[in-house]
Parts: sequence; C-alpha cells; structure tokens
Amino acid sequence: MRGPYIDVRELEYSYPDGTPALRGVSFGVGQGEAVGLVGANGAGKSTLLLALTGLIEPFSGVIDIGGTVLSKGMVREIRRRLGLIFQDPEDQLFMPTVFDDVAFGPINQGVTGEALAARVASALDSVGAGHLADRPGYRLSGGEKRSAAIAAVLSMDPEILLMDEPSSGLDPKSRRALIDLLAGFPHTRLIAAHDLDLVLDVCPRTIVLHRGEVAADGPTVEIFRDKVLLERCSLEPPLSLQGPTAGAGRWIT
Ligand SMILES: Nc1ncnc2c1ncn2[C@@H]1O[C@H](COP(=O)(O)OP(=O)(O)O)[C@@H](O)[C@H]1O
Ligand SMILES: [Mg+2]
Repeated sequence: MRGPYIDVRELEYSYPDGTPALRGVSFGVGQGEAVGLVGANGAGKSTLLLALTGLIEPFSGVIDIGGTVLSKGMVREIRRRLGLIFQDPEDQLFMPTVFDDVAFGPINQGVTGEALAARVASALDSVGAGHLADRPGYRLSGGEKRSAAIAAVLSMDPEILLMDEPSSGLDPKSRRALIDLLAGFPHTRLIAAHDLDLVLDVCPRTIVLHRGEVAADGPTVEIFRDKVLLERCSLEPPLSLQGPTAGAGRWIT
C-alpha cells in the first residue's frame, strides 16, 4: 500500500530570531493532487514551501517526499523531485535570455546538446512561451515573466510543483491563462495563494494555515463556504462564491 506522496508530520519551525512560523503542521498530498495553501499574511505558507524544499533547517517533525525522508544527506535527491516557483519571478530569471534561464537547471543536471535543446523547447512550449526564448527575462511583461519562471522549473522535470502566490502581479488575462495552465498540469501541486478564486479553479482540496497551524484541510468549496472559519483565519470568501449568485455559477472569472 502506498502512503501519500508528500507526507508532513508534526512540522515545527522557528526562524533564527525566534519567530515561530510552523507549529505542528501535519498533512499528506497524494500523487497528482492539486492542493491549495491559504492563510493570512504571516500564516506560514512561504515557510512551509521552503521547508519542503529543504531550504530552512533545522526543523522538527518529518517531511517525506515519495518515501524519502528529508534530511541533510537527502536534500539533493529530494530537490530533484520538487520545483519551487518563487513569488517573484525575477528571483528565477537572471540569465541573459529566457532560453538560458530555462536551460540553467537542466545544464546543472548534466543535460547537454540536443537533449538540452529539447528540454528547453518542451518547457517553453508547455507554458506557451516558445517565442520568448531569445528575449532577456527582465524585459518581459509580468505574465511573460511568470511563464518563463514556470518553464525554468518545468525544464528540470520535477514531479512536484510548489508555487508561492503564482498570480501575484498578473493582469486578468494573464491570470486566466495561468489558471488554465496550472489546472492542466499532471504534477503533484501545492499552491500557496491569496487568490482564493485561483485556488477554487485549480485545487479541489485546500489546507488553511493560521498562525503556523493547520486550521482546516478539506474540499476547497466547503472550506471557502465556511464563513466562520474564513473570518477566524482573516480570509475573505473568493469573489465567485460571494453575492446573490454564489454557488449557482461563476459571474466573475
Ligand atoms: N526571514 C524571516 N525571519 C524571521 N521571521 C520570518 C522570516 N520570514 C518569515 N518570518 C515570519 O514567519 C511567519 C510566517 O511567515 P511566512 O511563511 O512568510 O507567511 P506567509 O507566506 O503565509 O505570509 C511570520 O510570522 C513571519 O513574520
Ligand atoms: Mg508568503
């Protein structure tokens, strides 16, 4: 019998200055599942994504990715399976061209020649950004930057995508394109977002973090209809579940 693909048990972490960020967080994510991670500012969403990627330690508790427990010796092995897409795409685009940015990860993995070109082309195509290959990342629009940053992670062939606020800074059209893209990915996805409408469209399940603890974990629609829970966690229902037509259909997309 297989357990969850991402298995987090009793995860505790405080920053070096003593700020507690994660307090006894436990959850599992199945293979291919898309799970939303919501919570007010400071709830611990970004810290949790960093912890899964082995970017903060020491923590207490257990992080198990596909049967491998995260430890110092296993960080490299685990990072191969995970792709973290940062909140600010500029943190991910630093080479002279988008092609170079997308090639950077595979080159580090030892991919060369035609295999490298194929990886880059396939990653760019999957986000509809093939035409951006020769452009410098810093000259792109917000939506284009986001696509390029996602391609830079996809090119490493991760099994799991961790995303921090993927729709921040996007105009409505780019945001809609991103939602369709994320919804279609086959990867196991954990998506931290303030944009609850995005979570509703992409993630059938949601985990609510509140002050470093899991306040709720269940079907996204049920969680987003729970006004008492949302209010307690300083969240507002998504627009598409507000107003007279709430639940009857989407009136804002
Ligand atoms: N580098 C840091 N040093 C100290 N405290 C931090 C640092 N980064 C985040 N925190 C604190 O950790 C808690 C969780 O933050 P974070 O994970 O960024 O929340 P979220 O992403 O949900 O807004 C907050 O109390 C925040 O102030
Ligand atoms: Mg954050």
